[in-house]
Amino acid sequence: MVNPRRPVRERRRQPSGARLAETTSQDDVDVVTGAFSYTGRAIAELLLARGRRVRTLSRSPGPAGSPVEFASLQFADETALTESLRGAETVYNTYWIRFPRGDSTFERAVENTRTLLRCAAAAGVQRFVHVSVSNPSRDSPLPYFRGKAAVEEAVRDSPLEHAIVRPTLIFGLNDILVNNIAWVMRRFPVFPVPGDGSYRVQPVSVEDVARLCVDAGPDAELDAAGPERYSFDELVRLIRRAVAGRARVLHTPATVALGLASVVGAALRDVMLTREETLGLMDSLLVSHAPPTAEDSFRAWLEANADQLGRRYVSELARNYRRASI
Ligand SMILES: NC(=O)c1ccc[n+]([C@@H]2O[C@H](COP(=O)([O-])OP(=O)(O)OC[C@H]3O[C@@H](n4cnc5c(N)ncnc54)[C@H](OP(=O)(O)O)[C@@H]3O)[C@@H](O)[C@H]2O)c1
Repeated sequence: MVNPRRPVRERRRQPSGARLAETTSQDDVDVVTGAFSYTGRAIAELLLARGRRVRTLSRSPGPAGSPVEFASLQFADETALTESLRGAETVYNTYWIRFPRGDSTFERAVENTRTLLRCAAAAGVQRFVHVSVSNPSRDSPLPYFRGKAAVEEAVRDSPLEHAIVRPTLIFGLNDILVNNIAWVMRRFPVFPVPGDGSYRVQPVSVEDVARLCVDAGPDAELDAAGPERYSFDELVRLIRRAVAGRARVLHTPATVALGLASVVGAALRDVMLTREETLGLMDSLLVSHAPPTAEDSFRAWLEANADQLGRRYVSELARNYRRASI
């Protein structure tokens, strides 16, 4: 087992990259942002299973004894960031924010990703695999999707060999959205669906996203999208049935659904759903317009994991915002 912190700290004290080249072989080390979180965790697990060494850039170290090396995810000190990337063959980048809050803005997340790309090139990284989102667009009225398009351009413009993987709605055990829908279904008498619920989603498993990232070839750009498409209404009813929830599915104007989500969110000291996310969902942006690239069935996964789903609420603010702002 590799001590999760020591190797990178030792490297930082070294005066130049020359010494690093002696101690770190580029043949077997990859960097994953967020390997203790959600998608990054699945990518790291797959890489480890394939015999790679993994270093993560994250805001907090992982559990003691983790086989994943740790370096700080920060963008203020480019020298330190470059050192933390040195020796890596591939960088798998999952870094992004779900919504702006305080100092965390989409503009800043775009700038931070540009910094990461610059430092990766300076560190001699060979390949940059970027996790984007389905249907990013420079013209989108939604800053999340506009920011993702800006980052994709930066990835293409960088001198690094790259791949871009665009997931739809990612499901898996560390997920927030599907888990919290199940949580509401288990506890509340009604589940408000914004609008008529006919807009589509195409869930993809976190393991399939990881596989598509790790196997992506040079200059590949592809959606990560599962084999099943559902209306949002069907999705929430499937979740309700799986967890034997009693909530009545109620179609309401989007403003009413958002109002209810914000009341419950405030009681939980969280943001359950933003207006922009609701608009993206209602615009069916979480579907792919290409043939499915992933195999795992959402329905089968739901049945297999229903027992664990929605047992506790997972807070986005606790997981991602009550920590260092970067
Ligand atoms: N989840 C989905 O359904 C979904 C769907 C489509 C696309 N995507 C994209 O997939 C990628 C990974 O998503 P994920 O849900 O798996 O994310 P995540 O694991 O929660 O976070 C990914 C990375 O971003 C960092 N991060 C997250 N929120 C942050 C904040 N507020 N301030 C600073 N850093 C923050 C995390 O830092 P730490 O390492 O310190 O935790 C981690 O390194 C993202 O680019 C996302 O846009 C996700």
